Amino acid sequence: MSSFLLKLAIMSAILLLPRSNAQLSSTFYATTCPNVSAVVRGVIEQAAQNDVRIGAKLIRLHFHDCFVDGCDGSILLDNADGIDSEKEAGPNKDSVDGFPVVDDIKTAVENVCPGVVSCADILAIASQISVSLGGGQTWEVQLGRRDGRTANRAGADSNLPSPFTTLEEIKGNFSNVGLDTTDLVALSGAHTFGRARCRSFSPRLYDFKSTGNPDPSIDATYLETLRQTCPQGGNEDTLTNLDQASANDFDNNYFTNLQNNKGLLQTDQELFSTTGADTIEIVNRFASSQCGFFDSFGQSMIKMGNISPLTGSNGEIRSNCKRVN
Ligand code: HEM
Ligand SMILES: *[C@@H]1O[C@H](CO)[C@@H](O)[C@H](O)[C@H]1NC(C)=O
Ligand SMILES: *[C@@H]1O[C@H](CO)[C@@H](O)[C@H](O)[C@H]1NC(C)=O
Repeated sequence: MSSFLLKLAIMSAILLLPRSNAQLSSTFYATTCPNVSAVVRGVIEQAAQNDVRIGAKLIRLHFHDCFVDGCDGSILLDNADGIDSEKEAGPNKDSVDGFPVVDDIKTAVENVCPGVVSCADILAIASQISVSLGGGQTWEVQLGRRDGRTANRAGADSNLPSPFTTLEEIKGNFSNVGLDTTDLVALSGAHTFGRARCRSFSPRLYDFKSTGNPDPSIDATYLETLRQTCPQGGNEDTLTNLDQASANDFDNNYFTNLQNNKGLLQTDQELFSTTGADTIEIVNRFASSQCGFFDSFGQSMIKMGNISPLTGSNGEIRSNCKRVN
C-alpha cells in the first residue's frame, strides 16, 4: 500500500472510532489528582456512619444524572437564572438525595486538587465506592467527564423510567440511551439496597392497574407485610426496603427475591413475572451466581457512565456542584 493510502486508512479509522467512550479513561486523574478515589472514599465512609442509605442515594444520583442528557452533573444544579433544576422533576422531587454528601466530597477533593475533578466524575467514583462499601465488587471507573452548564427538567420528567410501566416501556427507556436487556436486568440489581416510599408501589397492594385487586405477582405473605407498612389512606411517604432479604448489602438477593415474588416495585417483579420475557433467564443467572451478577453490573455501570459525556474542552469543571461557574 502506498504511504498515502496507508495514511488515509489510518485517518478514516480514527474518524470512525466511537465518540461516546473514546475519551474516558480509568487513569484520567493519575497525574492531576492521584488520590481522588481515597478522598471520595473517606467522605463516604464518614457519611455512612450516620446514614446507612448513603451509598444507595449516591448511585441513584449517578443513574438519574446519566439518563438525562448524559453524565454531565446536571442533576446537581440548583434553580438559578436559566436553570430549571432537575431536582424538582417528578421522579426526583422528595425522592433523590445525597446532595450534601456530594458537596462534602467536592470540598474535600477541591482541597487536594483544586479545579481538576468534575462533579459528574465524582458521582461515577462515588457509585463504585458505594457498591464496594455495601459488599459488592469493584470495577474500573472510567473518568474524564466534564460538567454541563444546563439542566433539563423536562428531560428528567420524560427520560427517567417510571415504576408503574410495562417491561417493554422500561426496555425502551434503556435502549434510548444505548443500554440493552442485560444492562437493564443487571442495573436493576442496584435495588439490592436503599428504600422506596409507599407511593412508589402502593397501587400494587390494593388496586393494581385499576382492577380493585392486588398485583397477582406478589407473594401473599410479602403482600401482608407491605400492606401493614403502607395501609390504604396512610402516609405514602413511609419508607421500606427495596430488598427485604438484606436491606443494606450489595448482593444478589434482589434476584432471589424476584424468583420468590418478593420484588418491591412493579418494574422489578416484571423482570421475572412477565410471561415469556427474555429477562427471566437473566434473573435466574444472576440469582444463581453472585459473581456473574457482579461482573455484569460492573460492565453495565461502565456503559451507563458512558452515556454522552462532555469531554475535552466541552463543559467545565464546576467549582461548586450546585452552580455553573
Ligand atoms: C429500571 C428502571 C428503574 C426504575 C423504574 C426505578 C425506580 C425507582 C424508584 C421508584 C425508587 C424509589 C424512589 C422513592 O420511592 O422515593 C428507586 C430507588 C432506587 N433506585 Fe431505582 N429505578 C430503576 C433503575 C435503577 C438503576 C439503573 C439504579 C442504579 C444503577 C437504581 C438505583 C436505585 C437505588 C439505589 C434506590 C434507593 C435509593 C435510596 O435509598 O435513596 N435504580 N428506584
Ligand atoms: C489520600 O487520601 C486519604 C483520605 O483522605 C488520606 O488518608 C491519605 O493520606 C491520602 N494519601 C496521599 C498520598 O495523599
Ligand atoms: C420512558 O419513560 C417515560 C417516563 O416514564 C415514558 O413516558 C416513556 O413512554 C418511556 N418509554 C420510552 C420508549 O421512552
